[in-house]
Amino acid sequence: MNYDEILKYYDALIDNDDDCISLLSNTSAFVKQTIPGLNWCGFYLLKGEALVLGPFQGKTACTRIQLGHGVCGKSYQAQKVLNVPDVHRFTGHIACDEQTQSELVIPISGIGVFDFDSALPDFFHPALEEFLLQVAQHLHIKLKAIDN
Ligand code: SME
Repeated sequence: MNYDEILKYYDALIDNDDDCISLLSNTSAFVKQTIPGLNWCGFYLLKGEALVLGPFQGKTACTRIQLGHGVCGKSYQAQKVLNVPDVHRFTGHIACDEQTQSELVIPISGIGVFDFDSALPDFFHPALEEFLLQVAQHLHIKLKAIDN
């Protein structure tokens, strides 16, 4: 399956869902099961000045990240996608799983971040980054439509 086809399956998965928690849960499960090579993927949700752990797939993770801290907090604060090919070279990276080598964080304005980790270095190549951006955009549109 190519990324366009996977995206169609994703759209079908979220089409009839109208609950924020189940959408976030199924989105993290769907991405983890369709993209081999991820060791963690999930959400940190904006609560005041912090990002708090939301639905995810992978090992247990830190529960609270202040805005401006770690890859997640920096991405949300700057509203910028951060693609980190080597987490050991990113000042302030917060290590949850010592196996993680590379990380991609996509900010979702007003919601939080969608965070992806891989045990492979430089894992998030441009086509994969674009696909994950599309998933995040489709999810964001859905979340705005259901408003809960
Ligand atoms: N590495 C992230 C923390 C979250 S974990 O990767 C699940 C960061 O630096 O913000």
